Amino acid sequence: MKEDLDAFAQQLQLSIFEETRRDWGEKVYERWKNPLYMGKMYGADGEATLRGTCGDQMQIYLKFDGERVVEASFQTDGCGPSVVCGSFAAEMAHGKVPEELFEISGETILSVLGGLPEDHRHCAFLAAETLQAAANDYLVKQAQKGKTSTARSGPCCSAKKED
Ligand code: FES
Repeated sequence: MKEDLDAFAQQLQLSIFEETRRDWGEKVYERWKNPLYMGKMYGADGEATLRGTCGDQMQIYLKFDGERVVEASFQTDGCGPSVVCGSFAAEMAHGKVPEELFEISGETILSVLGGLPEDHRHCAFLAAETLQAAANDYLVKQAQKGKTSTARSGPCCSAKKED
């Protein structure tokens, strides 16, 4: 009886994975199964937490050496695609200067992923906007230290900033 139940659960999981792979595409599916750059970063030079219109939260952390990102990570309590988008946003941040980070949009992430189902496109925008807010946080902190004055004023996106 227990073996039947285990076999049923295993079969169910396999069919969910297959359906997910089909709906999201191979690249999204693989990153969802192996979400690189996930986790809180302590001592980040720039960080931001935004909540999307869906109610999910995204956090991005950046560490700089000079003006370039040397470490980036993310956390989210959101859906599978939000994990994937946060992971790619963090990956794409590596080696970039703040102005280049502001150029990473939701469309940029979507094009790297090869697209997402319509009802998950906003997850890419949440990740990109959080990345931009983290870059802005870095610039604000640098300006406060008197190192730069190029911070953008206010949130650079439609998502809601979390304190
Ligand atoms: Fe909210 Fe994906 S559904 S971030």
